[in-house]
Amino acid sequence: MGGNSLLARVGAYYHDVGKTKRPYFFIENQMGIVNPHDKTSPTLSTLIITAHVRDGVEMAKEHGIPERIIEFIREHHGNTLVSYFFTRATGGDSATEYAEQDFRYEGPRPTSKETAIVMLADSVEAAVRSMGTLPAGRIESVVKKIVRDKLNDHQLDKCDLTLGDLDVISEVFTSVLSGIFHPRIEYPEEKPVVEAKAGTETQNGSRSNSLKKKRPGIRRSARRA
Ligand SMILES: [Fe+2]
Ligand SMILES: [Fe+2]
Repeated sequence: MGGNSLLARVGAYYHDVGKTKRPYFFIENQMGIVNPHDKTSPTLSTLIITAHVRDGVEMAKEHGIPERIIEFIREHHGNTLVSYFFTRATGGDSATEYAEQDFRYEGPRPTSKETAIVMLADSVEAAVRSMGTLPAGRIESVVKKIVRDKLNDHQLDKCDLTLGDLDVISEVFTSVLSGIFHPRIEYPEEKPVVEAKAGTETQNGSRSNSLKKKRPGIRRSARRA
């Protein structure tokens, strides 16, 4: 489709650099800690979340990152709606006092093929990851829905991707994500069986032969089939 793949790759590396300013407000950095959004209003949460774009642009400028890369930071959310917090604020009620505009990123929308592709990749990866393991057919439908939603929300109006390009992009995303999130057979837990006195350690700290593991009689290769 005529894009610059190296540029897209480097832009993708930097697109979320602004999250490093308040890392714990982003789900991928919470890792078991209490979610700080539990204590903030949906309006404040939206301001904190959307600020990572502005913060990222500022940080990149301070560190002399080229403008062509800064575009990825600035454009990767376009002016999309932070729907999680909008729904939390309104409770799904359309006759609401809240303005949808207040729950949107500032934009601008992607202006190149490369920044649009990073926007789409970022959205589909987050959505599929949040759903855990999915069968291949389901991944395809999630990818197609997200691409269609971005198109219908006019996020792709300023970039020059064609509808044909979007089909190719959806196919590639589906194939890559299916390779990562495909269902796996769960292995039964292998428990060590103590056959002799435990606790005899050699001088280098490793266990002596008195502690042996008894393996269940199932061949891994057979289980993988
Ligand atoms: Fe982001
Ligand atoms: Fe991201």
